[in-house]
Amino acid sequence: MTVAAPLKSSIDKSPQPWHKTFEAPAPEFGPVNLEILSGQIPAGLQGAFYQNGTGRLERGSQAAGHWFDGDGAILRVGFADGKATGTYRYVQTEGYKAESAAGKYLYSNYGMRYPGPLWEHVWGLLKGGSVKNSANTSVLALDHKLLALWEAGNPHSLDLETLETIGEASLGWLKKNQSFSAHPLRDPLSGEIYSIGVNALCQLSIYRCDAACNLIKQTMIPLKSVPLVHSFVMAGPYLVFAIAPLKMNALPLLLNQKCYADAIQWDEAGETRLIVVDRESLEVVSEGRAEPWFQWHCGNGCVEPDGSVRLDFARFDDFIAINEVLREVPSGRMESTAYGRLWSLRLDPKAGKVLSNECVLDRDCEFPLVPAAKVGQPWQHTYVLMHRDGVKTGEDWFGAIGRFDYETGELKQVDLGAGNYGSEALHVADTLDPDQGWLLDVVYHSVAERSELWVFDALTMGEPVCRLALPGTVPIGFHGTWQAA
Ligand SMILES: [Fe+2]
Repeated sequence: MTVAAPLKSSIDKSPQPWHKTFEAPAPEFGPVNLEILSGQIPAGLQGAFYQNGTGRLERGSQAAGHWFDGDGAILRVGFADGKATGTYRYVQTEGYKAESAAGKYLYSNYGMRYPGPLWEHVWGLLKGGSVKNSANTSVLALDHKLLALWEAGNPHSLDLETLETIGEASLGWLKKNQSFSAHPLRDPLSGEIYSIGVNALCQLSIYRCDAACNLIKQTMIPLKSVPLVHSFVMAGPYLVFAIAPLKMNALPLLLNQKCYADAIQWDEAGETRLIVVDRESLEVVSEGRAEPWFQWHCGNGCVEPDGSVRLDFARFDDFIAINEVLREVPSGRMESTAYGRLWSLRLDPKAGKVLSNECVLDRDCEFPLVPAAKVGQPWQHTYVLMHRDGVKTGEDWFGAIGRFDYETGELKQVDLGAGNYGSEALHVADTLDPDQGWLLDVVYHSVAERSELWVFDALTMGEPVCRLALPGTVPIGFHGTWQAA
C-alpha cells in the first residue's frame, strides 16, 4: 500500500477572496424580508430553500482543523407571493452548546484530535461522546420537521419555519450515535427514503424508510477495512455503491496521535468495489470491481432499456489530494490541487460487471445533482458546480454552474462573474409549470462582501432571473434541499 502525495501548486499563497466567508463566525439573522437586487421572484417559486454548511470554524483562538469540522448552521429562504424571507440559525447541538459555554473546543472531529486525556478519547471512541456531531453537512425536509444531517451520527431535528433546534432525532429507531448519511435519497415515485450509515467496525448499514423516515427495513454489509461511504445512487429497483479503496490507520487514531482526516489512507493498488443492492429486499444482488478512484458525490442512476444500470459521479484520482484541498478551502490559501471530473459508469447489475466507465465532462467540477423528480429515473441533465472558463484547478473556488446534457453530450454553463463564488446549485421544480425549473445558488459577491441567493432559469441558463441580498455573509456551504409549499 502506498499513500499518494497531494499535488502542490506554486500559486500565490495570499488568501483568495472567498476566505472572507469563513474568517469570522457567521452571524445568525432573520426572519427578515430579503431585498431584491435585480429581477423578480418567479410566481411558481413557492416553498422553502434550505442549505447547511459550517457557520463557524474557530473557537476562542483556535481554528478548526478541517472545513468539515465547523459547526452546522442552516440558511432558510422562504418564497411566497413574490416575496422572500431569510433566516440563518446555528444547529444547537450538545457540542455547540458545551463549546460555546467553555469558549474552547472540547471534542475531536474529522480533522481534530481529542483535546482531553487519552482515556477519555478511547472511552469516547468505544462508547461515544468524544466526537462532536457537527450537524453541518446537509438537510432533509420532512412534513413536520427539518433534519440537519451529519454522516457519523444521528440527525438533528429543527423547526421547518424558525430553524429552532429541537434536538437529536433518533427517528424512533436509530441508536445513540448511530450513523445516518448526509446523502439520503428520496424515491420520487413512492416517497420512500433510503439512507446509509457506516460504523467504526466498517459495517455499512442500509436503511429503507417511509416518507416520514420511519424504518421499514435495514440491513448491514461488512466492508472490512473501509470507513467512508459518503453517497450512493438509486437506479430503478437498485441501490448502487461505489466504494473507494480506503483504509483506516486505526492505531494512531486510537492513540489520539492522528485525527480521522489524517488516519484515512489511500490504497492505490486497491480496487473500487461496486455493490448492487435490491432496494426492496435490501439484499446484495451483485458485487463487481473496477479501477481505483474516489468520489464524494454521486449524481444519479437509472436502469437503461437494455437492463444495464447507468450512474454518474464526480471522480477524483484519489482521496488524499481532495481531502487536502477541502482542508485548505476555508483559509483561501490553496496549496493542493485535485481535479474532479464528471464520469458515467454503466454496469450489468445482475453480474456486477462494468460495461463502460468514461469521463463525460473533463472540467473540474463537483456537487453533481439532478432534479428531485429524476432521482433513480432516466435523466437528461446533470448539474454541477464548476470553474469559470480559463480558471485553473487550485487557483479559485468554483465560479460557474454547468449543465451536462446526456442526449447531446454538450455542456451549458453559467458564469457567475469574476470575484463571485457559488455553492451547490439546487434544481427546484416550478409549482405552476411542470416543464419549468429553477436553479438556486448561494453566491458570495466578494466585491460587495455580501452573500446573495441567485435564481436561474434551468432551461435557458442565462442571466439570473432574480438576485436576493442576504443580510449577512453566509459561508460557502455544502448541501441543500427544497420543500414545496
Ligand atoms: Fe456531500
